[in-house]
Amino acid sequence: MLLAILQGVVAALLSRWRELATWWLPMQLLFAPALVLVLGWQLPSWIFLLAFLFMLSLYWSTYRTQVPLYLSGPRVWQAVSESLPARPLRGIDIGSGLGGLVIDLAKRHPECEFSGIELAPLPWLLSLLRARLRGSPARFLRGDYQTLDFARFDVVFAYLSPVAMSPLWIKFQAEMPVGALLISYEFEIKGQTADEIRQPIKDGPCLYIWRKQ
Ligand SMILES: C[S@@+](CC[C@H](N)C(=O)[O-])C[C@H]1O[C@@H](n2cnc3c(N)ncnc32)[C@H](O)[C@@H]1O
Repeated sequence: MLLAILQGVVAALLSRWRELATWWLPMQLLFAPALVLVLGWQLPSWIFLLAFLFMLSLYWSTYRTQVPLYLSGPRVWQAVSESLPARPLRGIDIGSGLGGLVIDLAKRHPECEFSGIELAPLPWLLSLLRARLRGSPARFLRGDYQTLDFARFDVVFAYLSPVAMSPLWIKFQAEMPVGALLISYEFEIKGQTADEIRQPIKDGPCLYIWRKQ
């Protein structure tokens, strides 16, 4: 345990020296001691395989996309709903997580078609089951939104990460029809002023809306 603590301290110091984000420091510090502690419990090895498979199905290729799973909530869904033009339209949540936004919008706007696309298998399966159980017309595809043709949609909603935003802007400009909306929760696009900004939660992140010219 003493060696593990020493290893943690060295790893944390290296992380600080290499200027990693601060949330790495406690992880580096505690990883080796936690490993030694858990090994002492003599758990059967399949538990670790099971935990790994669970995390894999939940996060899938986050290492590549740099967009992990975290969820928006009802107040954001309501703000998105209020931002939609009052006419039948097709909307998609790219990276739909557990499907909450899509199911909510499909209920509020029965005249519209809403779908979600999700890369990670477990969130995709859970959203599919949630929609079936609630009798929702919301549809969920499993796949990468980067391979999707945005031309079919009037509204694209994204709750992704800062790294995903510039490529998303290029795709929005290249594929979406004039008048279409790109709505991003929390993450802005560098150099692109939003046409509308809402703040669904007091002191919380904003909802940015761009209209294709
Ligand atoms: C921050 S969560 C947002 C979940 C949901 N849209 C919400 O508002 O609650 C982002 C999701 O995007 C998914 N994702 C990341 N990159 C993707 C890609 N290229 N194609 C499809 N889904 C992706 C992740 O697996 C994750 O579930």
